[in-house]
Amino acid sequence: MLKNKIADTPLYIMMLSIHGLIRGHEMELGRDADTGGQITYVTELIRALGRNPGVDNVDLVTRLIEDPKISSDYAQPEEQLSNNTRIIRLPFGPRRYLHKEVLWNYLDLMVDKCLLWMRQQPRLPDFIHTHYADAGYVGLQLSKLLGIPLAHTGHSLGRCKKARLIASGRKERVLDKQFNFPRRIESEEAILAHASIVITSTKQEAMDQYGLYENFRPRLFMVIPPGTDTSRFSPPGKRNPPVNAISMVDRFLHEPEKPIILTICRPDSRKNLHRLICAYGEDTELQEAANLVIIAGNREDLREMDEAEQTVLTDLLFSIDRYDLYGKVALPKHHSCEDIPDLYRLAAQRHGIFINPALTEPFGLTLIEAAASGLPVIATEEGGPTDIIANCHNGILVNPLDTNSISNALKSALNNPRQWKKWSKNGITGVRQHYSWDAHVSSYLKQLHRLLRRERKQIRRDIALFQHHGKSPLPFSHHVMISDIDNTLLGDRESLSQLVEWIRIRSQTMAFGIATGRSLESTVRTLKEWKVPIPDLLITSVGSEIHYGKTLQPDLGWKFHIRYKWRRCAILEALKDIPGISLQPDDNQREFKLSYYVDQPVATSIDDIAQLLKKLNLHAKLIHSHGEFLDVLPVRASKGLAIRYLAYKWGLPLKSFLVAGDSGNDTEMLLGDTLGVVVGNYSPELHHLKGQTQIYFAQKHFAAGILEGLAYYGFADKNRNNLSLEHFND
Ligand code: GLC
Ligand code: MG
Repeated sequence: MLKNKIADTPLYIMMLSIHGLIRGHEMELGRDADTGGQITYVTELIRALGRNPGVDNVDLVTRLIEDPKISSDYAQPEEQLSNNTRIIRLPFGPRRYLHKEVLWNYLDLMVDKCLLWMRQQPRLPDFIHTHYADAGYVGLQLSKLLGIPLAHTGHSLGRCKKARLIASGRKERVLDKQFNFPRRIESEEAILAHASIVITSTKQEAMDQYGLYENFRPRLFMVIPPGTDTSRFSPPGKRNPPVNAISMVDRFLHEPEKPIILTICRPDSRKNLHRLICAYGEDTELQEAANLVIIAGNREDLREMDEAEQTVLTDLLFSIDRYDLYGKVALPKHHSCEDIPDLYRLAAQRHGIFINPALTEPFGLTLIEAAASGLPVIATEEGGPTDIIANCHNGILVNPLDTNSISNALKSALNNPRQWKKWSKNGITGVRQHYSWDAHVSSYLKQLHRLLRRERKQIRRDIALFQHHGKSPLPFSHHVMISDIDNTLLGDRESLSQLVEWIRIRSQTMAFGIATGRSLESTVRTLKEWKVPIPDLLITSVGSEIHYGKTLQPDLGWKFHIRYKWRRCAILEALKDIPGISLQPDDNQREFKLSYYVDQPVATSIDDIAQLLKKLNLHAKLIHSHGEFLDVLPVRASKGLAIRYLAYKWGLPLKSFLVAGDSGNDTEMLLGDTLGVVVGNYSPELHHLKGQTQIYFAQKHFAAGILEGLAYYGFADKNRNNLSLEHFND
């Protein structure tokens, strides 16, 4: 059986990072905008976690991609990184590679894929840690559904990016469409409202950037700068000369022995390479002092590149030509991720400088890598670099909008050998002290343990007070019992209280749900009146809505799934003047359910209505019950289909569901592989189900009938385990 370990025992952490290309070796950093710093951060974090004795296992869950344009490595469902860390790839949505902006529509599918996968694991994670808003959206649902605490790292934020683009003169409407900002920001807000901890790399990121959000709570944040892999990034020392890096750079340069001004970044306009090349191009003294080496991603044919990247690169090439910088500037077409440490070392060897002139830099990982390599830095004063320079004292900050400030800083750094030496040394020791992954992980784990202890205390308190503690029993359940409400569960108080007790003693291994035509609000009200505890699962409005437990957490995946071809307004309009049917009160009309009263004698037949909708090319499901109600639902919705969806989502065979009902709108859930129970007081429309396999007709009425059915099947009875559940036991 799945178990949740107690705090301070080694943790199992589930990381979620969804976009870009992630693999454990030869990472394709800079291949596109989605495969950058976040990917390095995440993979190095999990490796360092794996090394720490406080951690049992780490799984990094990402998207499985099958695309002839990218390596088949990204189509491997599982990649072992070390003995206790893995990358798990789950397919969802289209198979091909997709940029992060278009992944939004498929994220609900990812939630279901994760749940199914999690159920197959020997243990549930102690923490879910998500990276960026897309993974945060998925992790938020998992966290709420499973009651597992959520840690989040934003990496970059929608509100900030949007504000920046608007400031640069772009139109809000166009931006929203291109970048899906409303969805991103909405989910960032929801993450902030729910997460147990948000990790940022700098104080500035926590206060200034997250400060723009409505759900900003300063106490939520913990600043832990990312580590640097000091085994990769180290000073030149007595190593052999980095031949590859030398040949890559030197073929551009007339006087290659001169110091190198090095910059490494994606060709993104925000990185402000334009200003850098102007600073260099306009200053002949600077050109005398050093060469400029720009490593800006990889490219094949410029003309086939992404428009934004193309703009940045062509601007660089035009500027080289305009200032006639031939022989002074190197702009290599290709580099691999293995070349990067050598490039820093080469620049350090030649007494150069690293510069990051970005308009804003959330953290500035490259500055730390440069520092670790013994290369002094000049960095933008906007964002994370302020922390880095304050910690390491290995360079100076510049105003990224001021060309002169950039060239002056470079010159003064290049022309002062004593200072250069000091900065170089300071950088190396500063990184060891402040920016190692092991240091990162130990603060990180301390915090996670603290949060888990706090949560355990809360749960113990809740249990003592007989309160629900938010953890869903579904991942541990072997059985699910689902009952209709009116005339099935409710009708006889005495047997109902027996049934409630029967359910309570099985709550560890059995989930309890209801499936009803009532709305969520009316369901909750009615259950309260009858003193039935709020079930683990609520299928309401004839299966058009699913919610979970006391917190009434909605199943967003179901909403997304049934939205298919649903044109509510058009249907409402089409049925407006049909004789013999009239709309039920407003409370009964829902986003995915239109309900009518049927005036039997004069009503147009249900078949005629179906015909009419078909003629108008409107897709809907019509459910007629008790001879007086007509529900119009999306084609994918019904109580029965909701149960099938739940079986899939939670990885339970249909046979492990027992369903009880009394009337027409229960038919679909009674049929099929579920174990059906029809209570003795059933409506005549169910008569035709008599004799069907796996539908038991009870003698007794209401809850007593359900109890009779439960006994008949030996349901959720350890001694009569007549269901094949072997694979759920370990
Ligand atoms: C409940 C609902 C109603 C629906 C009927 C049949 O009474 O309130 O809207 O039509 O069930 O499903
Ligand atoms: Mg009923």
